[in-house]
Amino acid sequence: MNKTIRYPKSEKYSNNLGIIYAECSGPGGLQLTEFMAEKMGLRRHARLLDIGIERGCQTCFLAREYGVQAIGLDPDEDRSDGIPHIEHLMRNARLWGVEDQVIGLKLGVPETHLSANTFDFVHSTTTLEMVRGLFGEELYRQCLSEVFRILRPGGIFGLGEPMHLEGTIPADLAPIYTQGRGTGPEGWAKCFATVEETTTACRETGFELLEAGNAPDGWDWWDQFSKNDPYCKTNPDGEARIIQQDGGRWLTYGYVIARKPA
Ligand SMILES: C[S@@+](CC[C@H](N)C(=O)[O-])C[C@H]1O[C@@H](n2cnc3c(N)ncnc32)[C@H](O)[C@@H]1O
Repeated sequence: MNKTIRYPKSEKYSNNLGIIYAECSGPGGLQLTEFMAEKMGLRRHARLLDIGIERGCQTCFLAREYGVQAIGLDPDEDRSDGIPHIEHLMRNARLWGVEDQVIGLKLGVPETHLSANTFDFVHSTTTLEMVRGLFGEELYRQCLSEVFRILRPGGIFGLGEPMHLEGTIPADLAPIYTQGRGTGPEGWAKCFATVEETTTACRETGFELLEAGNAPDGWDWWDQFSKNDPYCKTNPDGEARIIQQDGGRWLTYGYVIARKPA
């Protein structure tokens, strides 16, 4: 796969990956966000909804670098300090100087309570697969339908997710990935789908597919995550070791860019 991608915008912020991964909590950090933003064709003053924001630095990055007006949606509290994610978002918005462009709502998919036909763009990374892992495929599909409902006709959905490659799980990884439920490695087989399965779900929701694939840098993002995520660092024999054992044989990072028909 061609790996000549450059990240000129996120490069400015990526010199401390410890900070980036503490604020993002999924593979890719700002590099992923820039990758998604370019694929989605973001433009200044567009209305964007970001679903599943952790501490919101990706939302702030989109506001600062692409000039969007962003709402960050997250129903949960931060697992390390118990502070609602949307409060971290607003702290970051002040730090990043985008407090006039960003607002957080303590809500989640599929019940956003937002008006239909509202947003020019919806962005969501490393979030909906967790809904699938915890609550099943039906709720995952309801989340896609909610995104479809709140996008304006012609609006663009950028979905980035940990996914797995086609084919069966390598034999040494199968016992690890199929032990149980949840969103940790032992539940990943239930969380993750392939690019093809994800595009099928988007099409069946009513979206027109613009582009989809495995991100060329997906494995590098997993590798980076395993070395910089604070939870991986404090527990090197847990998730980090499993990711390294995988080595990109089953894990990938997939994306779908889809449009609500005009
Ligand atoms: C793994 S983090 C991903 C954060 C970030 N988007 C990234 O790519 O690194 C998943 C986030 O989704 C949030 N989340 C969980 N369930 C959600 C739901 N039903 N709707 C919206 N966000 C949700 C979690 O609180 C968390 O902040």
